Amino acid sequence: MSDGAPLSRLVCATTNAGKIAEIRNILGSRIELLPRPDGVGDVVEDAGSLVGNARLKAAAVARAADAPAVADDSGLEVDALDGAPGVDTASFAGEGATDAENWTKLLAVLGERPDRGARFRTIAMVVWPDGRELFAEGTCTGQIARRQRGTRGFGYDSVFVPDDGDGRTFAEMSAAEKDAISHRGRAFAALVELL
Ligand code: IMP
Repeated sequence: MSDGAPLSRLVCATTNAGKIAEIRNILGSRIELLPRPDGVGDVVEDAGSLVGNARLKAAAVARAADAPAVADDSGLEVDALDGAPGVDTASFAGEGATDAENWTKLLAVLGERPDRGARFRTIAMVVWPDGRELFAEGTCTGQIARRQRGTRGFGYDSVFVPDDGDGRTFAEMSAAEKDAISHRGRAFAALVELL
């Protein structure tokens, strides 16, 4: 913690609307999420690890806003692909790929393989303007579906069936159902405990 005072406001480093909505729901009324200031350029996520990328994003916004900032970085690790795409999850189908291009490629690469185990991993991190930081990790194990199902959520939600669910993909669940068991829900819940 920075100064022993309870943290009630964090600047949110992400601009992804799907993620912002999730983070806001997970934090609830305990912590107010302020929008990322205008003028912070895109952060190149080239640290090579989820922790490093989360740090790059949160630190850039903390410096620009002169206030503590929160960021998260997530990756999907597929057993049959030896843990790939991992830190490259956002660009699995190429730089600037859309969500649909990414999950379409994943389904194509796996084909009808029976071994479809995977896990989402999230690092949630707060960085203060002076460089101090706190972070927590959350994971969610599951299976890659054989075909896309559901319309909610974002990213790979429509092809990920969490083990702690009832067979539906994340994209077939309500936001509250996903948040209760998701990697991001778990990472932010753990981070709030640390704060
Ligand atoms: P990042 O954390 O924004 O870097 O996300 C990395 C990649 O994982 C992007 O392709 C996201 O769409 C995807 N991703 C992150 N979190 C989730 C999630 O909760 N569900 C599905 N896809 C996700």
